Amino acid sequence: MDRDKIVGEAKDYVRALFARNADGHDPEHTLRVYDLAMRLAAEEPGCDRFVTALAALLHDADDRKLFQTENNANARAFMASRGVDAETAERVLLAVNAVSFSRNRGRLPPTAEGRIVRDADRLDAMGAVGIARTFAFGGRAGRPLRSSVEHFHDKLLLLREELLTDAARRMGAERHEYMEEFLRTLEEETSGQY
Ligand code: ADP
Ligand code: NI
Repeated sequence: MDRDKIVGEAKDYVRALFARNADGHDPEHTLRVYDLAMRLAAEEPGCDRFVTALAALLHDADDRKLFQTENNANARAFMASRGVDAETAERVLLAVNAVSFSRNRGRLPPTAEGRIVRDADRLDAMGAVGIARTFAFGGRAGRPLRSSVEHFHDKLLLLREELLTDAARRMGAERHEYMEEFLRTLEEETSGQY
């Protein structure tokens, strides 16, 4: 099993899979989550970098909002086609299935790789990139600015407290402050309209 080659092929796979998703799930989101996960993994000695890499790259490959697959079918098919052994594949899927906000409700990821990929996905919803994604999502859904601003209070400003790894908590603190500054400036510029 040539691990570097499989990771490279997983990047190509997600570029093709998300090619037509111009909202918050373009291929760049997944590639950023991969980069963030590798940075977080560098500070988590207990984690397996290959499992982390594949879990980050495949974390939205069976997202229910985008695909009608059952039982992680896209991620499974990709790994089977590249000869990833069954035990490694199960560890990847354990991490992938620990990421979703709505599907886990209070449950913590059972593995280091799951904590890292969940943190990486949360970080990409914060800071400047999180602000950009939020208004892109709202615009695509035809929603007014006000509804995207509400999303900060409903979800994005709560993410800082949910980050699990030390490295993500450091990065998340900066991204949180940046979002708060953005909201303060928006309020000032619009005389409290938002
Ligand atoms: P992921 O599955 O990668 O965690 P989501 O599907 O939850 O991402 O959201 C994709 C992007 O769209 C995120 O940046 C998120 O903050 C934004 N988003 C999700 N719901 C809303 C909403 N109701 N209003 C504005 N932005 C939203
Ligand atoms: Ni994601």
